[in-house]
Amino acid sequence: MNNLLGRHLLSVDKLSRDDLQYLLTIARLLSPVAKKQIGCNVLEGAVLANLFFEASTRTRISFHTAFARLGGKVVDTVGVDSSSLAKGESLADMARVVAGYADAIVMRHPEKGSVADFAKNIFVPVINAGDGTGEHPSQALLDFYTITTEFEALGKKIDGCTITLLGDLKHGRTIHSLVKLMAMFKQITFNCVAPCDLAMPCELVDYLESKNHRVCQFDNVADGFLNADIIYATRIQKERIAGIIPDGYDEQFRLNRTNFLRFAPKDAIILHPLPRDSRPEAFDLASDLDDLPQLSIFRQADNGLTMRMAIFAVILGVEKDLDKYFFSKKGFVPKRLGVYDR
Ligand code: NCD
Repeated sequence: MNNLLGRHLLSVDKLSRDDLQYLLTIARLLSPVAKKQIGCNVLEGAVLANLFFEASTRTRISFHTAFARLGGKVVDTVGVDSSSLAKGESLADMARVVAGYADAIVMRHPEKGSVADFAKNIFVPVINAGDGTGEHPSQALLDFYTITTEFEALGKKIDGCTITLLGDLKHGRTIHSLVKLMAMFKQITFNCVAPCDLAMPCELVDYLESKNHRVCQFDNVADGFLNADIIYATRIQKERIAGIIPDGYDEQFRLNRTNFLRFAPKDAIILHPLPRDSRPEAFDLASDLDDLPQLSIFRQADNGLTMRMAIFAVILGVEKDLDKYFFSKKGFVPKRLGVYDR
């Protein structure tokens, strides 16, 4: 049942297990559209406003592409300087104006809580595409969709699994949203691998423990990878800490081929919301893992398109008769997207 019709998606907090299940079901239906196997024009005539006031590549483009691949049109604005925010317009005024033009609004903004403030006084659905260190609900949904599809292939279940979270757990909004989604399941072990300065916020640890999950803190990957079903690596959010990598964040926090093969279970999957910071001093996920099948990061990015289509379909209430709007496509589609794809 669709409980999300016409609603904002600002946080994962208001989602139920049923909502999550419903979105996963619709995502599966839309997967052939995302894979360019068939077309769909269910959103013909609809307009999305894609408002990005903070850096983005995949989130902005995948929201745009998701709407376009369902037949809708997209208008956008990128950066504060090119919008009326630079003229002192309030978020509330901008929200009311854009609500008059668009059927749905996606927004990213550097301040925690700003997207909720923007959405407060309007009835056109707003999707939070990242509000500072706050939340990133669509990323958590696509991460979760990836975990379920990868687990299905491995014959694993979410209940009782172990997820290792590595990197900037303090500022990483994708982690903040994902752990709350995972917490809807039973007896999850969260292995947190980060130096003290980047540790998971206490309120989130308390929340997970209050739901009877286990949270373990580590300062090295050797211990943190033990029994992991999922290793979710993240980038240091330098833009939130004046560009300075905290003391104590070094090679021992980098996931690379050597320590993965040595310390992680063979069937652990590797996720990362991307972008990965390829500068050596960032100690982010190493590229020597790229040919390993366990590395799921590009399948995860591909799933962003699928899940964002599902979010639009459900929030705009067009998900019921999707097959009536499917059509066969002409033209070239590559068999594989990249050299390491199977
Ligand atoms: C993440 C974000 O913006 O929070 N990226 C994304 O949306 N896929 C993670 C990051 O920037 O490190």
